[in-house]
Amino acid sequence: MTASLADRLEGLRPRVLLTLGSGLNALADDLVDPVVVPFADVGLPEPTVPGHRGRFLAGTLEGVPVLAQQGRLHLYEGVPASAVAAAVRAAAACGVDTFLVTNAAGGIAADFMPGDLMLLTDHLNLTGTSPLLPPPGRAPEGPADVPHFLDLTGAYDPGLREAARAAADEAGERLVEGVYAGLVGPAYETPAEVSMLRTLGADAVGMSTVTEVIAARALGLRVAGLSLITNVHRPGGTPTDHVEVLDIGATAGPRLTSILGALLPRL
Ligand code: HPA
Repeated sequence: MTASLADRLEGLRPRVLLTLGSGLNALADDLVDPVVVPFADVGLPEPTVPGHRGRFLAGTLEGVPVLAQQGRLHLYEGVPASAVAAAVRAAAACGVDTFLVTNAAGGIAADFMPGDLMLLTDHLNLTGTSPLLPPPGRAPEGPADVPHFLDLTGAYDPGLREAARAAADEAGERLVEGVYAGLVGPAYETPAEVSMLRTLGADAVGMSTVTEVIAARALGLRVAGLSLITNVHRPGGTPTDHVEVLDIGATAGPRLTSILGALLPRL
């Protein structure tokens, strides 16, 4: 039988799941002597995209026991929402009570610039699916299968947002705020889609996060989200280059690290 994540943590009890987005894997390098658990060892599906290693690193950051997640699954890999949410569910089963999620996103708001860091105030789930759905084709079998009509007001915890603002201040980093629209991808958005997203109230767009956040809220975790704006969409259309997205991730990573470093002791 496959070991559970808790079995593999050598007695560590992380409080915080820190999911690292594209180009942000280096944040986990600050963990001292981490316990490393590849997804495959605990029965979790492996990401298929190059540059998205699938593993957890458990250790202490700024005195706080954390579980860093390098690599995640995306809906664009052709997996169901339940697979995208599996890492969050495994972390919650280990007693994690706070989910800090990071991602790379394209800027929609007119005043956003590449390299900006955005605190998520809310999201638009435009993926057309949810981790709270039962597996396809399976009829509900009992009370445990009744649809979970989850309240998502305040999904991005107001107290954690306040703490993130204070942390950014302390780190001397500018933090913009806005609504993240989650789409399936993997194609980047057409100019018409960008215009639609702007009308809908999106400030940034990406291909992750919303599925994981819904699963985390269903399990009662407190959530905070930070986007690294890797590219911006301007009216009329701006080509989006995946290599640029990864490059900005690499250079802005240390700024995000310093905010997270100041945030962890405030949790
Ligand atoms: N669109 C969707 N996902 C992204 C983008 C984008 O422009 N940039 C980084 N991830």
